[in-house]
Amino acid sequence: MNQAPDCPSPATTTRPGEHFDAHLAQPVFFCAPSRLVIADGAIRQAAPLLAAQGWRHALLVTDRFFSQSSPWVKALVDSLSLNGISVRVFDDGEPDPTVTLCDQATRELSPDLQANPFDHVIALGGGSNIDLAKALCLTLALQCPIRELVGQSRWPKEPLPLVAIPTTAGTGSEITPGTILVDPASPTKVAVMGNGLRPKIALIDPELTYSCPPRVTADAGIDALTHAIESLITKDGKDFDTGLDPDPGYSGRNALTMPLALQAIQWIFKALPVAMEHPHDPQARRMLAYASVYAALSYGSAGLHAVHGLAYALAGVTHDTHGSTNAVFLPYVMDALLEERAEELGWIAQAGSVSVAAGAAPAAPSQAAALVRDLIAKVGLRTNLREFGIQAGQLGQLIEQGLAVTRLAKAYPAAGVNEAYARIVNAAFHGTLTG
Ligand SMILES: NC(=O)c1ccc[n+]([C@@H]2O[C@H](COP(=O)([O-])OP(=O)(O)OC[C@H]3O[C@@H](n4cnc5c(N)ncnc54)[C@H](O)[C@@H]3O)[C@@H](O)[C@H]2O)c1
Repeated sequence: MNQAPDCPSPATTTRPGEHFDAHLAQPVFFCAPSRLVIADGAIRQAAPLLAAQGWRHALLVTDRFFSQSSPWVKALVDSLSLNGISVRVFDDGEPDPTVTLCDQATRELSPDLQANPFDHVIALGGGSNIDLAKALCLTLALQCPIRELVGQSRWPKEPLPLVAIPTTAGTGSEITPGTILVDPASPTKVAVMGNGLRPKIALIDPELTYSCPPRVTADAGIDALTHAIESLITKDGKDFDTGLDPDPGYSGRNALTMPLALQAIQWIFKALPVAMEHPHDPQARRMLAYASVYAALSYGSAGLHAVHGLAYALAGVTHDTHGSTNAVFLPYVMDALLEERAEELGWIAQAGSVSVAAGAAPAAPSQAAALVRDLIAKVGLRTNLREFGIQAGQLGQLIEQGLAVTRLAKAYPAAGVNEAYARIVNAAFHGTLTG
């Protein structure tokens, strides 16, 4: 997208290198896995690293693609065994796991727990397998249905330690404190969140993402872009309501989270179109893997708001993928925050316009949302609610259910959240941007 000749110049008032100076007074409460490994071929380092923790009995949570159509499960099991670790493989993972699947798996795996107690859980797969594994870390330890734990952030027993090996570059679940599950009895996805649920080890191997089908690459890439943008423009740490929790999962943006988010945005604009066309391009896959981690380190402390709240409500109605339900709201949330977050939108516009044409003049903040929407369309995702089959009569329900995810609605960084959600949903329905 080229800048129109009469566009105002970006509202960036800081010089490069000074972008985050004004945020140094924001409080930081940063949580991350205690070990973060990123390397081509890193999966081969997993077994010795786990053995070095003193662990001897693993539960490996994955799905049939990985156990039947990839070499990784067999290679991992062999290498764990060589390192003195026995493994029970659970390969019934599914996209968007439900509370029902989690409870069935808990029942199926509990007898193993008596015979040979697992001392850690390994998740291999996309966000879905990682989230199922996270939930199992809790339910196997506590021996209760997962629904009983929704809304709690601390538990009478520690969850089993989790090692997350993501095979998509997007969700960041290998870094974050939450598991997101579908509950057939609830109109939106439900979450169990607490810092104790963060994986102990996140092992990121970009080579594992080469086999992602284009649609999975697109969904995950736009999910990571959403994490980065939402956390870059979320509430400041000093204004964030942690409910006086001494160990909060999310606590607002600050001078540590914001640079991570901006770097992730720059990498995604650059690498996502390349990875879509050339799935085996090592540098594009590395860039997306890094971007996903950086975005997750950012949002995993700063938190998210309207895009995710509304995406959970839409997924409750249409059951579409997480990446696609985020994608359809992201440009309209950015557009709604044009006044409050002009400077950050200027940085995003600059990242987007430079990625479209080398040497292009930086676009204005008002063009950031359109640049993001162009990227979403370019990778084949839908850009308005009508394309999801949503009717005008369903908009009220989306607004209401989005607002009902109060932990996200309260982080919306502007006054008048009810009216803002209504404006965003209407704009997403008609596909209208003001910028
Ligand atoms: N807990 C969190 O912090 C968090 C954050 C964002 C999203 N999520 C959740 O993550 C889920 C989406 O995860 P996702 O986008 O990673 O997709 P996914 O895990 O749902 O996987 C989608 C499909 O892609 C396949 N797949 C994954 N990696 C592959 C590979 N390398 N090669 C071939 N096929 C592969 C899977 O087998 C699956 O069939 C949603 O349920 C969402 O709610 C959780």
